[in-house]
Amino acid sequence: MQRIDRAFFIVAVVLGLAGMVLGIQMGMAHDFQLVPVHTHINLVGWVSMALFGLGYRVGLAKNGRLAVVHFWVALAGAILLPVGIYYAVTREQQAVVIVGSLLTLGSLLLFLVNVLRAPSAATSNR
Ligand code: HEM
Repeated sequence: MQRIDRAFFIVAVVLGLAGMVLGIQMGMAHDFQLVPVHTHINLVGWVSMALFGLGYRVGLAKNGRLAVVHFWVALAGAILLPVGIYYAVTREQQAVVIVGSLLTLGSLLLFLVNVLRAPSAATSNR
């Protein structure tokens, strides 16, 4: 994938829309059981994915093959974490949330590697 920054950003916006729709639905129903699902779609899906995209776009993180691996790990985590929280909250099933949380942790570790591999000059205008 050539433009991994754009892929991150597209996914971020789509997940942000999903999180907002869930927020509106919760508000209309006056049922706040799914607040943790809403918060994690928004913060892991919208905010984190957008920050990853911006980080790759401005050169704070190296945009190579490992960035593509990072994208798929981050996407899987951003979906499975809120889905897992949903199952944990509504059915007391923990398996999916464990997988989702490990993928999300792995995603940030991969981002750390790509940040450390970025040429330092690319992060500065000086
Ligand atoms: C259309 C947009 C949104 C709507 C309608 C909405 C709606 C809601 C509702 C109804 C709650 C539950 C409040 C309660 O428990 O009393 C909530 C909580 C929360 N929302 Fe949203 N939300 C929206 C967007 C966002 C976004 C974009 C983010 C983050 C990037 C976000 C983060 C949170 C957080 C962190 C909480 C938990 C707050 C707490 O427990 O104190 N929300 N939202």
